[in-house]
Amino acid sequence: MTVNLAVLLSGSGTTLQNLIDCIEDGTLDARIRIVIASREDAYGLVRAGNHGIPAAVVARKEHKGLDAFSEALWREIRKHPVDLVVLAGFMSLIHVPADFENRMMNIHPALIPSFCGKGMYGHHVHEAVLAYGAKVSGATVHFVDEHYDHGPIILQEAVSVLDDDTPDTLADRVQAKERELYPRAVQLFAEGRLRVAGRRVKVLPA
Ligand code: GAR
Repeated sequence: MTVNLAVLLSGSGTTLQNLIDCIEDGTLDARIRIVIASREDAYGLVRAGNHGIPAAVVARKEHKGLDAFSEALWREIRKHPVDLVVLAGFMSLIHVPADFENRMMNIHPALIPSFCGKGMYGHHVHEAVLAYGAKVSGATVHFVDEHYDHGPIILQEAVSVLDDDTPDTLADRVQAKERELYPRAVQLFAEGRLRVAGRRVKVLPA
């Protein structure tokens, strides 16, 4: 079944671009109904426009407090027929209404529960991994709950940290893994193959 997506982002939108590419090459059975940016200068809005995808801005700075921001986001999301909300470099918390529990996903560029939480996004994550001296990092796709980078884990895979890595080279390796994992997780959702029991997510066979 084609899954209808809302994609929420704050930045350059490479994660959005990857989902668009997978949909266009037929490896992901999804349709992006709306892209919502939390900043009006997010380049992800241009990417949406380039592919004829409707886009909207719900600016974080124009809403005082999480409740008001969240409410404005859901008002926009609910204008569209959305099965799954996909966070794609979205740098804010958003409340999860009961009917969207286990219908919102996020991707984080590390192995949760390490190197995650408030303030841990993008390059900060790779810098922290290198500063700590960890030997592996990776990517994690998880359902969203009320805390940063915290809900049940759907897919998670490791990459090696190499002796001569910089934040940039590690980011390249992690992002290649992200490009593989996120569409796979969304496709599993589309196929109805994810079962959540507490914190554990089982992937049913095809
Ligand atoms: C991605 O690497 C994603 O994993 C990360 O932000 C980047 C978004 O890039 N998300 C987080 O760190 C969430 N805690 P993009 O704006 O180019 O899609």
